[in-house]
Amino acid sequence: MPKLTVEGVGTFEVPAGKRLVNALVDECGVDQLHACGGVARCTTCRVEFVAGEPAAMAKAERDVLTAKGISGQKGLRLSCQITCDGDMTVKATSRLAGSGRIDAGKRPADSIEPPAEWV
Ligand code: FES
Repeated sequence: MPKLTVEGVGTFEVPAGKRLVNALVDECGVDQLHACGGVARCTTCRVEFVAGEPAAMAKAERDVLTAKGISGQKGLRLSCQITCDGDMTVKATSRLAGSGRIDAGKRPADSIEPPAEWV
């Protein structure tokens, strides 16, 4: 099983292929935001990769990062558009605590939405 390290939180084994956003919540206990429910619209699920950033990116992720003007920022990726296929280290910088939001958002589905078109 891949190891997911969240800086300041710990290192956790996560099921291979699990969506990163759901692994952050379920295995790591992080209050990760996912306001749009994991459909590549809000960017609140963003994390900052320290190590193990996947080379592949879903078209939906690329498009929303570009639209929000945050494309190309080093290590910044959307956890709802990434699956846990290898060891990763991230900073969880977009969390419910301190956000002023009522909740973290609807739980994302088990599979990437919209269906991933890798670019
Ligand atoms: S973009 Fe909204 S949860 Fe990922």
